[in-house]
Formats: sequence, C-alpha cells, structure tokens
Amino acid sequence: MVEIIIDREREINMIESGIRVGLKILLKGLRGVGKTTLLKYFVEKYNGLYVNCQKILRPEHLLEIIGNEGNYVDAYEALEKFFEIACNKYYLIALDEFTDLLVRLGNFKPYRGTGGTSAVASHLRAILEEVKKPIIFSTTSIKTLYDVAGEYSKPLARSFDMIIHVHPLSMEDALKLIDKLCSEKGIKCTYDAKLRIAEMSGGNPAYIKAIINGLRGEKIDINSVNETVNALLREGYFNLLFQGIEREISISELEVLYIISRGYTRYSEIEKRGRGININQALSLLIQRGFITKIKINRESHYVINDKTMALWLATEPYPGLEALSFETARIMHAAFESLVRELFMQIQKTIEVKDITGKKLLIYPVKKVYRYRGKLGEIDAIIVTKQGTIVCEIYFGEKCPPEKIQQLERNVAIAEKMGESIYAAALISYFGFQNETIERAKQSPAMQIIYLLDKNSLWQISKAIGYRLL
Ligand SMILES: Nc1ncnc2c1ncn2[C@@H]1O[C@H](COP(=O)(O)OP(=O)(O)OP(=O)(O)O)[C@@H](O)[C@H]1O
Ligand SMILES: [Mg+2]
Repeated sequence: MVEIIIDREREINMIESGIRVGLKILLKGLRGVGKTTLLKYFVEKYNGLYVNCQKILRPEHLLEIIGNEGNYVDAYEALEKFFEIACNKYYLIALDEFTDLLVRLGNFKPYRGTGGTSAVASHLRAILEEVKKPIIFSTTSIKTLYDVAGEYSKPLARSFDMIIHVHPLSMEDALKLIDKLCSEKGIKCTYDAKLRIAEMSGGNPAYIKAIINGLRGEKIDINSVNETVNALLREGYFNLLFQGIEREISISELEVLYIISRGYTRYSEIEKRGRGININQALSLLIQRGFITKIKINRESHYVINDKTMALWLATEPYPGLEALSFETARIMHAAFESLVRELFMQIQKTIEVKDITGKKLLIYPVKKVYRYRGKLGEIDAIIVTKQGTIVCEIYFGEKCPPEKIQQLERNVAIAEKMGESIYAAALISYFGFQNETIERAKQSPAMQIIYLLDKNSLWQISKAIGYRLL
C-alpha cells in the first residue's frame, strides 16, 4: 500500500493527464522530495509495473522483473525484451532512478566498448519512439543524465514529452505532514516547533521525517527542534547525507557551494573568494545538478542554494579560509521563512500584480535589490527596492498575525525613510493570515493608503507569476 500522499495536486493532475494520452514523463527533483512516492501512487492506481533501477545490476534482472528468466540474452536484447513484454502486460511502466539503468547496462556487451552508457541511452531513445504506452521516469538530477548519457543526453531528454520538476512541499503542506507524523508517534509539539520543523526541512518530506524521528521526549518546543536539527547536522542523518553528496562533486564545485553558503551570493563576491577556480564552470555544473539557482537582478547574477537544509549544513561546517557561521545565523540566513520570502521577491523581473487579503491590488515592479536591515535604527525583515520605488516589509511566520505587527510595520517605514528609500508600499506578510484586530488596526493606521496585508495566497500569486515553487 502506498502511504497517504499529502497534497501534490499539481503534480498528480499533470501526470494523470500525461498518462491518459500515453506520454513519456520525466520526474526530476532533489533527494527525498517525493519522486518515488508519486511513481508508486500511479503504479498502484493503474496496476502498472514499478522498477527500481537501482536494483537492476545485470541484464537478467530486467527480465526477471517481467517473469522471463529463460535463456541467456545480452544487454541489448534484454532491454528490447523488457519493453516488449512489459508493454504487453502492463498499461503503465515506472522506471525509478532510470539513469542507474543506463550506467549498469553500459557495462555489459554489446554496449561495453561501443559507447557504453551513451549507447544504452541512444538505444533507449529508439525504443521509446516505438512505445505507445505511458512511461514515467524519475531521476534525482539532470546532471547525472548528462554525465551518464554524454552526447546522447540531449536527444534522450527530447524523448520525454513532459518534464515535471517535483518541488518540496509548501509550508502549509509540510505542516500537514508534520501534524500527521507527530500524532502517529504521540509527540506533542508546540505550534511554533512545528513551524520550525517546516522551515528547517525546507518542506522536504524525507527531511521532515528525519527530524521528527530524531526528536527526543514527549513535549517538543522550538529549542528541542533546534537541538535535534543541530545534532542531525553535526553527527546524524543530515551529516551522512550531505557528506555523501559532497563526495559526488568536484573540489571546485564544493568550494563554490561553501562560499555561497557563507552568504556570498553575488557573482563578484564568489569570484573574489574563489581564486584559482573556474567559477563559470563550477556554477553551471552546480546549476545542472539542481544544487543552486541563478537569479539575475539588476544585471548582476546571484546564486542561491536550493536545498535549505544542505545550505544550513554547509554554512555551519568548517572550510579552509571561510569562517563557519553559527547555527542561529545560518538558520536565519538560509532556513527561516523570511529568507524564503526575500528569495521569492528577488526573482521578480517583470511587473506583477498581487491582491492582498482585502482584495487591494499591489503592483510590484522589477526588483533591483532585496535586503534585510539590521543596524542603529532597528531591524527590517525585507526592503525591496524596485525600479519604481521601495516596498518595506514586516514578515511574520506563526498563527494569525497579531495587531502589534502593524506598529512594527509603521516603524519600519519610518526607518527606511530615514535611510533615504522612497517608499510606495508597506507590506505585512503573514503566511497563515491575520487576526481581525490586525485588519482593523491596518485600516486605522495613518499609513493605511500604502499598507498591504499579504498572506500565503498573495505569495503564491507571485510564485505562479515567476514560475517559482509554492512557498
Ligand atoms: N506528498 C507526500 N506526503 C507524505 N509523505 C511523503 C510525500 N512525499 C514523500 N513522502 C515521504 O518522504 C520520504 C521520501 O519520499 P520519496 O522516497 O518518494 O522521495 P524521492 O524523491 O524518491 O527520494 P530519493 O531521491 O531518495 O529517491 C518517504 O518516506 C515518503 O513516504
Ligand atoms: Mg526515490
């Protein structure tokens, strides 16, 4: 039985529509985001064939799966036979981590010595052109595909009719999974502690499970979550996982990742610290692997680490010449809700319109700069400088936002004005919405004309407009 899947409505609908018309679908996404879970969901639904390609060590294994353990055949024939029989028997085929299959078969005759993995890739492409049944593939990284299939990766990539990027869960869905797991295990978690788990897992379901399995005691608060995550990062599951990933990449890529993790996200900053490295090459490999995203703002490239938990680990891990950050600093920089919000706004490169919870429209112009202010005047979660003025934000991550935050927002506006920003909007951002009193307070504020109350729906409007994951 497949476990209950939390949400995934978007992915499920897309895959469903693809299956119905017999498409070849590729699911890609970081480790643990839920690719296998989606594959198994559809295999169960359509009574299809699930193949874990990590377990296909030799050509015979392919044939065993379809119940054909007859005469010896070479890898070429095995691949042909597999698809021939599987397509006859099943409506749907799912190949999990299919790049492993390319690599393994490439070591066997007749592929070995005639192109190896690339030869398997080109053969697979030819087979896929003939197959009329729907097939779902999964892979952890497009980079792996490029590595293993070499010059065949591009034509192979073209034989997928639909490529779906599986993102981590939204904060809301992460919270649902956390609730479910905690109640299964009889763990009593404060609301804030649950939110902290959602933040520090970056919404990755495998990470959520790891954190919850690591919790000790029956009553859990924010501090115990911090302690657990810290322990997992230093000597537990996360440390093992990320050390493993570290070994898969080159020294140059690794150094660039460490530099970015310390908060040097601009190209010029990375270049300055990565002397002797071929920075452009390292950056583009890291992008292909899905480890970082390039964000171009105001003609300068910025790079952010996609896996927030990995960013947390890198930032707090020693590296020669780069001072490690404290857990708390790293948490705020990489894994706090407000940092996700800043990252979201950074990517706005065309004018978009969002509605606040009262239906009031806010225009956000192309963004030139996003920063957090901490200094003599106070603290501001996000200052968003656009081509046509500045938006000052106060960001809240908790249950319904309390009215005091309106005063905080007013103070932020005053501070930003002193700093010389020309402000056209002040946004109070609260993922889970606002208390009625907060909405009333906003209406009575002297700054009411420019105040906007943004909740998760407003943030999702931005995500959709720029093609970013739903926070
Ligand atoms: N939508 C979901 N709802 C509930 N649990 C989920 C969901 N997606 C994944 N999980 C759980 O998270 C864990 C990781 O999921 P899964 O193995 O599907 O990820 P994956 O992307 O295949 O990871 P890997 O790269 O390690 O193969 C599993 O324990 C799974 O049960
Ligand atoms: Mg998997």
